[in-house]
Amino acid sequence: MERELLLLKEKCLKCTKCALSKTRHNVVFSDGVANRNLVLVGEAPGYYEDKTGVPFVGKAGQLLDKIFECVGLSRKKDVYIMNTIKCRPPDNRDPLPSEKEACREYMDAQLEILKPKIILICGNVALKSLLDTGFGITKVRGKWFDGPYGSKMMPIYHPSYLLRNDSREKGSPKWQMWQDIKEVKRMYDEIKG
Ligand code: URA
Repeated sequence: MERELLLLKEKCLKCTKCALSKTRHNVVFSDGVANRNLVLVGEAPGYYEDKTGVPFVGKAGQLLDKIFECVGLSRKKDVYIMNTIKCRPPDNRDPLPSEKEACREYMDAQLEILKPKIILICGNVALKSLLDTGFGITKVRGKWFDGPYGSKMMPIYHPSYLLRNDSREKGSPKWQMWQDIKEVKRMYDEIKG
């Protein structure tokens, strides 16, 4: 599994399939541990990710780490983290359909190699690419869906949305995220056995 991912990463680092390859500083392939249990798919690299080549290292990433830590999970031990798009769209605009199309093979291949039992779909961009139900994230978050390779997929809020919605009151996005991550941990423990 590691060797296959490494070969794919080498290919991805050289990719020039779309115009984002001209403006990127680094391809942002993945972080965390290659594993068959838990994978999170985010949207696209931002400023700090483009600078470092590591996904989710800016403010949103730091919040994501805290959310995992709350239930005893971490990217160092338990989670493989990747994005739908591997290169930063200028000014953090949403990726264009043509960019998503060009990058799709890498995301699909990562999932195919890992065949994870749980896929967390983080935010609307990943949702549209992986599970186009026609509904936005607020409607489908926290629900389990059947994914490829017998996986279970759960859409969850993107941490940058939580940074813009700071309330922890019952029913707020942060409160909902807390319910969702507890459910993720429950399923994680169940499938890990
Ligand atoms: N937002 C994402 O979706 N991915 C990152 O890597 C950083 C911010």
